[in-house]
Amino acid sequence: MKKVLSAIQPTGDLHLGNYFGAVQNWVKLQDNYDCKYGVVDYHCMTMPYKASALRENTWKMVFQLLACGVKVENVFVQSFVPEHVELSWVLSCVCSYGELSRMTQFKDKTDQLKDKDKDALVSSGLFLYPVLQAADILIYHADYVPVGKDQEQHLELSRNIAQRFNTQFEKEYFVHPEPLFTEIPKLLSLADPNKKMSKSLGEKHYVNLFAEEDRIRKQVKSAVTDTGEGQIGMSPGVKNLFELLVACNEKTIHDQLMQDFHNGALKYSALKEAVGEALVQLISPFRDNLKALEENKKQIKEQVKDSSSNIRKVAQQTMKEVREITGLLSLK
Ligand code: TRP
Repeated sequence: MKKVLSAIQPTGDLHLGNYFGAVQNWVKLQDNYDCKYGVVDYHCMTMPYKASALRENTWKMVFQLLACGVKVENVFVQSFVPEHVELSWVLSCVCSYGELSRMTQFKDKTDQLKDKDKDALVSSGLFLYPVLQAADILIYHADYVPVGKDQEQHLELSRNIAQRFNTQFEKEYFVHPEPLFTEIPKLLSLADPNKKMSKSLGEKHYVNLFAEEDRIRKQVKSAVTDTGEGQIGMSPGVKNLFELLVACNEKTIHDQLMQDFHNGALKYSALKEAVGEALVQLISPFRDNLKALEENKKQIKEQVKDSSSNIRKVAQQTMKEVREITGLLSLK
């Protein structure tokens, strides 16, 4: 079976964008691949944060992934496998400063930090973030990495690092991981459909995957449809609602309402009703699953520690081989 590795940062609640853009696909891949999915807490340390929030968010992300259908044996918490950091150091030594300086995500994030506060800390960890990501992938010899297009450059770097390591140590050791790009529906903010749906915009702008039914319906009901005067064709807000129907796999109702639109007979209230219903149908099982998981909190945490320990064995084996290949001494 081919190996799949992906990871997500524990930054708080999952939202619809995460689900359609990643998690839904992760769940499907489990049928045909040997999958490992990391909750990457080390990556979260690259920006200023609070220890208590990290602790809470890491478990939260684990539970939410499980509630969406990720299998517990496929999940691990990154820092339960400290070999990621060990490999990351080795890889940083075959990755040039110049390469890392060209990473667009690093440039964007440092600009943001500088804008916010001139003295804000641009950590070396943030600079090295893509090397840690390469270690996440290479340590499991992953063949495929499901990611969004925004990670293309990081994936390319992972391949370059693998190549450089193999060349330097004259051994075809690391696999060259290929991205599996996920088609991400371009969801827009419900409150301001001129912007992308994103958590950073604030609560009104995104749909929390574990929100109560009422809240979801209300959020959809108050979605902005007409953004201004002189609109030609379909407004971005209406287009976004149709996009949501597609994402939820509601083709029949989507086509009906689209026909209404072309006949000039579309009632926004009907469209919103349909979207609200589709989202509630999609999300309710996840919320129920999450409640059930939380009733067994202790036991589930133990299971995740066990799966992390099992996954760690693979990482330890890799590090044993890497020590050998790179000339580090072995204790045994
Ligand atoms: N950088 C990724 C993101 O922000 C998260 C990530 C960390 C990742 N390590 C990874 C994704 C390894 C895929 C594989 O989305």
